[in-house]
Amino acid sequence: MFYLPIATAAVLLLPGRVAAQSQNQFLNPILPGFHPDPSCIHVAEEETFYCASSSFNVFPGIPIHASQDLQSWRLVGHALNRPSQLPDLAISNGSTSGIWAPTIRKHNGTFYLVTTLVHDKRDALDPTRWDNIIFQTNDLWNNSAWTDAIHFPFVGYDTSPWWDEQGNSYIVGSHAYRVEPGIHLAKVNLQTGQVKENWTNLWNGTGGLAPEGPHIYKKDGYHYLMIAEGGTGLGHMQTIASSKELYGPYTANPANPILTNANTTEYFQTVGHADLFQDGNGNWWGVALSTRSGPEYITYPMGRETVLTNVTWSNGSWPVFQNPVRGTFTGWEVPKPDQELHGDGPLVTNGDDDLQFAPGTSIPPHFVHWRPPVGDSYLVSPKGHENTLGLKPSKLNLTGLDGNGGGPGGQTFISRRQVDTLFTYNVNMDFAPKIQEEEAGITLFLTQNHHARFGVVLAPTESTKRLIPHIRFEAQSYLPVPRPFTFPMPGGWENRTLHFELKTVNVTHYSFAVSPVGTQPLVFVYVPGDIVSWGFTGTLVGVYATSNGGNGTSPAYFSHWNYAGLGQVRENNSTGIAAS
Ligand SMILES: *[C@@H]1O[C@H](CO)[C@@H](O)[C@H](O)[C@H]1NC(C)=O
Ligand SMILES: *[C@@H]1O[C@H](CO)[C@@H](O)[C@H](O)[C@H]1NC(C)=O
Ligand SMILES: *[C@@H]1O[C@H](CO)[C@@H](O)[C@H](O)[C@H]1NC(C)=O
Ligand SMILES: *[C@@H]1O[C@H](CO)[C@@H](O)[C@H](O)[C@H]1NC(C)=O
Ligand SMILES: *[C@@H]1O[C@H](CO)[C@@H](O)[C@H](O)[C@H]1NC(C)=O
Ligand SMILES: *[C@@H]1O[C@H](CO)[C@@H](O)[C@H](O)[C@H]1NC(C)=O
Ligand SMILES: *[C@@H]1O[C@H](CO)[C@@H](O)[C@H](O)[C@H]1NC(C)=O
Ligand SMILES: *[C@@H]1O[C@H](CO)[C@@H](O)[C@H](O)[C@H]1NC(C)=O
Ligand SMILES: *[C@@H]1O[C@H](CO)[C@@H](O)[C@H](O)[C@H]1NC(C)=O
Ligand SMILES: *[C@@H]1O[C@H](CO)[C@@H](O)[C@H](O)[C@H]1NC(C)=O
Ligand SMILES: *[C@@H]1O[C@H](CO)[C@@H](O)[C@H](O)[C@H]1NC(C)=O
Ligand SMILES: *[C@@H]1O[C@H](CO)[C@@H](O)[C@H](O)[C@H]1NC(C)=O
Repeated sequence: MFYLPIATAAVLLLPGRVAAQSQNQFLNPILPGFHPDPSCIHVAEEETFYCASSSFNVFPGIPIHASQDLQSWRLVGHALNRPSQLPDLAISNGSTSGIWAPTIRKHNGTFYLVTTLVHDKRDALDPTRWDNIIFQTNDLWNNSAWTDAIHFPFVGYDTSPWWDEQGNSYIVGSHAYRVEPGIHLAKVNLQTGQVKENWTNLWNGTGGLAPEGPHIYKKDGYHYLMIAEGGTGLGHMQTIASSKELYGPYTANPANPILTNANTTEYFQTVGHADLFQDGNGNWWGVALSTRSGPEYITYPMGRETVLTNVTWSNGSWPVFQNPVRGTFTGWEVPKPDQELHGDGPLVTNGDDDLQFAPGTSIPPHFVHWRPPVGDSYLVSPKGHENTLGLKPSKLNLTGLDGNGGGPGGQTFISRRQVDTLFTYNVNMDFAPKIQEEEAGITLFLTQNHHARFGVVLAPTESTKRLIPHIRFEAQSYLPVPRPFTFPMPGGWENRTLHFELKTVNVTHYSFAVSPVGTQPLVFVYVPGDIVSWGFTGTLVGVYATSNGGNGTSPAYFSHWNYAGLGQVRENNSTGIAAS
């Protein structure tokens, strides 16, 4: 490590100050936390913008957010909300597997969402690695209205639909890059998934690594093919080419890359994987993914988030993005809608204020699992434990199987996204373990092999080997993690409701604390955020229960769930970067 970010020097914008922004001032990220690979549309008749983002192994998957001002974004639902829509998500293997890069479009009254279930552990040449799929709905606000996945064959990913004036439908996608990199197109029946012709290689990009994330736009008689290149890390960039004919040949824009923060000292890095849309005034906008890491790229637990930028696209010319992407920018004025959004889902920036899990209520819509939930492992207000969320333990703990697989019994885990640089998360737990290695508690979770967990476990004492509750901490990462421990629970804590707390101490560190309800939480361990800064996903905070491979079935009951944002860092203070 050559650089260490110094937290005190980062510029912190407290939530209260956000409201003061003027009409055409915008804050990034627009979808903070784990919301990568955005694709957005404007639906004129509803005066509403909609965005979809990648969800990897998370279930429900493919969140859809709506906004009328491009600033406040409400969760509408999830395109993938029933395990039966795509049963194979349950057998995904690997931390980078699952749903990659959806594209959302509306055509002739129907919404289409095209994406790929990637089995990232399988060989790149193995066609079963790339399960390309189409979902459809006529009502984005109704989870039940989404179809099951319609599968179509393509050895690649980042698939995106396009229609010509005659109503023919096409898919453009990124061919598996370790084999034959390039952007490929074919005519596809979106109702059946039938590919109606051989794939045509349209363009390979400008020579950057991994040409991917293609979208086609037709404007002023030209087909524009916009893609991402450079990989989704620090070298990420957006490029574009155009052609009179859909099938090419495509000519690259001499001004490429049209969007990138590569080779800058900006706090927002890895900018790319963009999509374009127009608002009700005809002004153009772009969304992309970005990582709040600075060029040091060491601590970025929320991973790849969705950012917004305004775009100028003159007749017969190339689109020009506002570069670089920043935490605050001035964009176009967005038309005021006549009708308010009708949804009641939470805003993406909302906290959780003392969630009760009252009888007759459902699991909140923004809660997610790692792969689809198994059986009745999650119960709201189970009998005798009203106003709690009851969790039945899985045999697998959060580490799961070798190779980051999930077994048939799944991993009992429920969480929400970290969406603030600084936050506090806390929850109460009643748990009476009866069998050795029964364990339950809270976690900071990025992937199976990048997480920290902190809970109560039944374990033998060193001296008498009597089974008593212990406080356990364990973390996993490619980077060094704090030492694991399993300590006998302090005297007087047994059989009491415990109050668990996970919070950010500063921009680079978290703390885990616990104590009986009504007493001051005791911090047991500090965890650096770099251990959960990796890969394609972003951090989740939540609760888990496991028998650690044993036969235990004792449930854990969670109550009084809170998550509160305490601040967003949106820019780097360059004097705050120090060599070490
Ligand atoms: C952040 O908090 C951790 C844990 O308390 C501490 O070790 C580290 O020095 C802090 N960093 C700064 C810049 O204060
Ligand atoms: C950057 O941080 C330093 C040290 O905290 C502070 O003195 C300076 O005013 C900051 N600069 C800006 C532009 O915020
Ligand atoms: C939601 O969609 C389902 C399936 O199409 C339908 O049965 C149901 O009536 C819809 N609900 C509403 C409120 O429109
Ligand atoms: C558009 O949708 C209508 C009604 O769903 C259908 O009858 C028509 O064939 C569609 N048109 C095209 C071009 O797909
Ligand atoms: C598709 O490609 C195969 C093998 O290259 C070829 O045999 C076939 O004729 C092609 N089909 C069409 C419709 O061009
Ligand atoms: C893309 O690269 C491949 C080699 O990997 C080459 O065969 C092909 O012609 C290129 N395609 C285009 C459209 O330039
Ligand atoms: C960043 O700099 C490197 C090294 O000079 C160069 O190879 C790369 O093309 C640059 N990337 C962008 C997007 O400008
Ligand atoms: C973005 O919007 C601002 C404010 O209207 C404008 O000055 C700027 O030129 C726009 N930038 C682009 C690239 O469209
Ligand atoms: C998951 O991946 C690991 C490592 O590649 C492999 O050993 C294991 O067989 C895979 N499991 C499944 C169910 O595919
Ligand atoms: C806790 O509850 C268990 C089961 O009811 C009981 O066996 C144990 O003695 C209790 N421990 C304390 C310290 O009260
Ligand atoms: C968690 O599960 C893994 C894999 O099953 C196992 O190796 C590990 O020992 C378990 N951890 C604990 C603390 O039991
Ligand atoms: C679980 O139960 C089975 C069947 O009763 C037994 O064979 C096995 O040893 C038990 N496992 C543990 C870890 O106690």
